[in-house]
Amino acid sequence: MVHVKFNSELLSTLDGKVVVLTGGATGIGRSAVTQFVEAGCKVVFGDVNEPAARDLESALGDAVRFQHCDTSSYRSQLDFFALAEDTYGKIDIVVANAGVANHKDIFDPSSDISLEPSMMEVDINLKGAIFTARIGMHYLRKIGGGDLVLVSSIAGFKECGGLAPYTASKHGVLGLMRGLHIVAIEENIRINVICPWMTKTKLVKGIEAGWRELGLPENEPEDVARSIVLCASANRSEEGKTHTGARIPFAGKILWIAGGEPYEIEDAIQDLEPQWLGEENSKVLAKGQAFLASQGTNWDADKLEQKTP
Ligand SMILES: NC(=O)c1ccc[n+]([C@@H]2O[C@H](COP(=O)([O-])OP(=O)(O)OC[C@H]3O[C@@H](n4cnc5c(N)ncnc54)[C@H](O)[C@@H]3O)[C@@H](O)[C@H]2O)c1
Repeated sequence: MVHVKFNSELLSTLDGKVVVLTGGATGIGRSAVTQFVEAGCKVVFGDVNEPAARDLESALGDAVRFQHCDTSSYRSQLDFFALAEDTYGKIDIVVANAGVANHKDIFDPSSDISLEPSMMEVDINLKGAIFTARIGMHYLRKIGGGDLVLVSSIAGFKECGGLAPYTASKHGVLGLMRGLHIVAIEENIRINVICPWMTKTKLVKGIEAGWRELGLPENEPEDVARSIVLCASANRSEEGKTHTGARIPFAGKILWIAGGEPYEIEDAIQDLEPQWLGEENSKVLAKGQAFLASQGTNWDADKLEQKTP
């Protein structure tokens, strides 16, 4: 693990950049919208909570546009991104932040098995993030690259009882990064993931009091937002500066946010693979990975058949 410390010198690299962010009306997203605007960005944010979103839009003035966007709807996201490009002419940074947690446990033994359960976490947190990444990368590609920041959770890599679909959706967000990063980096698109631990927003109201009683570390929404800004600015210095402790290119990283501070964990997970997978397994896995990443390898069997006479 590496404790990454925010270098405020990097803030000036965001001046004039255009940010598209989902779920910006409240909590972490609201704070990220504010911090990007303070750094000189133009921000288009989406949400389904119109009153809170309009309130933020009028508080921040001309640098911000709100558009209703339900991340679970592809059409809604297409319109949202199109508005951002129409308004500001380009998109430099995309943040997939919108998320929900269903606090009514669908696996509770007393729940009615005959009723199809809500899949809102999968639809909004995972399917929505895939849509944001797909459409967002299309726009980033148009200007030769940029930053995609995905918001997962501590539930993206740890057990989390009582929230199984949420946990599955947030593990999926890490999978989305790992599925895209090595290809995206070749297009100069840096993808990083934020995994907040307990952050004081309405999402975690139920556990807040008990958490505080134990004196466990808490994040303010502003702390997590600062880590989103950290990812979006880490590679932007023309003099090769970055945030203290960050390895450049800062891409394919996972930042766990605890007690207000970001800790990069993906490099250690990858570097320690021979320990947790075994030396021999790790060696043979590397061969398989190299084959999959090599020129000409394609998952699509139809494409292979077309090539062979
Ligand atoms: N608060 C925490 O402790 C914590 C921990 C780990 C991860 N997270 C993640 O951080 C992100 C932000 O959550 P938060 O804590 O700020 O909570 P929040 O509820 O304040 O913010 C979530 C935002 O997403 C919006 N949203 C909900 N459904 C939507 C949809 N279908 N389309 C678009 N927007 C939608 C909400 O209206 C809200 O503005 C989420 O992805 C959440 O899973 C939060």
